Amino acid sequence: MRIGKQDQAFTAIATSDEHSITVRGYDLCDDLIGRIGFTDYFWLLVLGEKPTEAQRGMMDACLVAIAEHGLVPSVQAARMTLAAGPDAWQGAMSAGLLGMGSVVAGSSEAAGQFLHEVLQKAKADRTDVETAAVASLEELKAQKKKVPGLGHPQHSTGDPRANRLLAIADELGVTGEYVGALRILGERAPEITGRPLPINVSGAIPATILDAGWPVEAIKAVPLLARAAGLSAHLYEEAARSIGFILSHKADLAIEYDGQPKGRGASDRAAE
Ligand SMILES: CC(C)(COP(=O)(O)OP(=O)(O)OC[C@H]1O[C@@H](n2cnc3c(N)ncnc32)[C@H](O)[C@@H]1OP(=O)(O)O)[C@@H](O)C(=O)NCCC(=O)NCCS
Repeated sequence: MRIGKQDQAFTAIATSDEHSITVRGYDLCDDLIGRIGFTDYFWLLVLGEKPTEAQRGMMDACLVAIAEHGLVPSVQAARMTLAAGPDAWQGAMSAGLLGMGSVVAGSSEAAGQFLHEVLQKAKADRTDVETAAVASLEELKAQKKKVPGLGHPQHSTGDPRANRLLAIADELGVTGEYVGALRILGERAPEITGRPLPINVSGAIPATILDAGWPVEAIKAVPLLARAAGLSAHLYEEAARSIGFILSHKADLAIEYDGQPKGRGASDRAAE
């Protein structure tokens, strides 16, 4: 069975023959192994060109910022999975990565798309970014939706990772329209939503890396790659000194059963 169009049967990423592997036009063994750092390689793999110094600096900063934040949900999911299946690192790692959704850890994607939409709106409406940002904030409020990239349960007075990333973007000369739009959202959101809403790391990552030239369609790759490193540390520690079942026991203690009382089956049987 043939499904969909079949006219673009190409990949531009890599090819190999009996003696060599070619990645983005470079010989893997002669040009890349031992000659390129992993951040540059990530950029080359995804975009087909090596990054500039500023792009490398910004990507490095974003990867370091989101790799680790303690026993967050994605880490707990991974560690409990490894406790239950010690021979399945890949399953435990996947459990952690699967939890990186639009609310925490993976929220850079939604925030990046939102920033993009605000900028597109400003262009389409022929207004300035502030007008488009305020209209977008009002729209989210009317729909009772949260502003992606703002708010944090722990760093309620300001996410220090976001502040640092934005400062690095300024230092590297990367700051552009995305960071500008995020700063406007951060300034205007509190008065519109009626609550303090600091820019969080998942707002700062897309803003800074998009200004550095990363494509909006590949934003999700940044937190996923970074968190794979943090999860590796947790899985290595989990294998040596397990806390997975402590986490599951504490969850069991914290959550109360409020379903039907015990004994329902007995009364059903008595009625038969
Ligand atoms: C990160 C997040 C889950 C933290 O939430 P929290 O501080 O625990 O707050 P809650 O989700 O319990 O929400 C508390 C109130 O603040 C509001 N609120 C929280 N974040 C908001 C946001 N980004 N935009 C608008 N309102 C927000 C909620 O709607 C809720 O309002 P209510 O009391 O009228 O129902 C939340 O801010 C959020 O979803 N942000 C957007 C997604 C995001 O950027 N995630 C990345 C986190 S690093």
